[in-house]
Amino acid sequence: MDLCRVCREGTELVIDLGLMPRANATVFCSNCYLFQLTESPKPTELFTAEYPFFTGMSKSMIEHFREFAISEVIETASSSTKVIEIGSNDGTFLKVLHEAGITYLGIDPSESAIKKAKSAGLNCFHGFFDLENINFLQSSFGMADYVIGANVVCHIPDLLDFFEAVSRILKEDGTLIFEEPYLGDMLKLGSYDQIYDEHVFIFSVLAVDKILERTDLELIDIKHQETHGGSMRYIIKRRGVAGKSTQLQEMLKVELELGLDKMETFINFAETCMGKREAFSNLLHFLKSEKKIVVGYGATSKSTTILNFCNVDNSLIKAIGDSTPEKVGKFTPGTQIPIVTHEEVRSLNPDYIVMFAWNHFNEIVIKDKFIRDSGAKVISIVPNISILDKSNV
Ligand code: TYD
Ligand code: ZN
Repeated sequence: MDLCRVCREGTELVIDLGLMPRANATVFCSNCYLFQLTESPKPTELFTAEYPFFTGMSKSMIEHFREFAISEVIETASSSTKVIEIGSNDGTFLKVLHEAGITYLGIDPSESAIKKAKSAGLNCFHGFFDLENINFLQSSFGMADYVIGANVVCHIPDLLDFFEAVSRILKEDGTLIFEEPYLGDMLKLGSYDQIYDEHVFIFSVLAVDKILERTDLELIDIKHQETHGGSMRYIIKRRGVAGKSTQLQEMLKVELELGLDKMETFINFAETCMGKREAFSNLLHFLKSEKKIVVGYGATSKSTTILNFCNVDNSLIKAIGDSTPEKVGKFTPGTQIPIVTHEEVRSLNPDYIVMFAWNHFNEIVIKDKFIRDSGAKVISIVPNISILDKSNV
């Protein structure tokens, strides 16, 4: 039996997605409510010099980070405010602080991302935010008023080490704010493609609140976000500094009503995943028998989970278009579907386009004339496997 990564109690299997290029099964700990991967690669293997994810690829994410920086930091900052962003990626968030004249430091283990941020003139440190580096960070930058993370804490296998590192560098009245894909949305949408090697955890509010009981930090507020298919922002202070907001107390109740503390809920989720696998596979096999050309939009990390779990290879999906130059010319891991430019996808005259970047769909529909106006039909995978009626999008 796999033990919980945080409390070391026994966990129960939710769903085994089968052999993946990297990650595989997910389990639930009824003791601390953590939904987690059984195995995950070492972060040093994941966030390498070639890490191909850049926040700035999406206009709506740039807008989101601008709003995040302004509302959570800039509006209340003084001339002495110091901000650390962990997992600062290409500097999309840092840039807003930089332009506002705030003192900041970005930290990221991925050389490709750090290079982009540094070439934009942003102040960054190449490495991990962990106990090993914390003394150096503290002596070179000083204590922080804010530690910020977006889509990064769920990547950290040793959460207690991380919270201890935060605690060492946060001022007495400092604030830790992080936001991550939200378990409640994953269950509601059946978006099991959120489960992949980087997402060691998919957090609920209950789980974050509970883990923090093992630290000197406390969850005091939450704010739901639409990004990444539904995320939750967690606002944390030192224990005893502030009370829990009404909104947070309400959400803890809602999650108990939804059963996010119960294994039974996750068994139902696993059944939903199996049903979606069958529906997707049946649809693609049917389209193949009809000699239709099917392509994908967005060689996302999420798509790796779907393609491998549903056994979809290049005999069912001919190619996947992506705007990231670092991905073009490569193949989807484990399923060998060519990743090409969007122009190349269009030249294949597809009959169907599977929308793997579904979390960016609103942005894509507005900017991509081909998706909007061509005869190709869009296959939606979230919340259900369905062929979209484009007159409604
Ligand atoms: P993302 O949704 O962030 O997913 P994940 O975290 O699962 O990798 O990745 C979006 C992918 O879609 C990324 O490879 C870039 C691509 N993309 C486009 O090709 N066109 C677009 O307009 C957008 C917004 C993204
Ligand atoms: Zn646990």
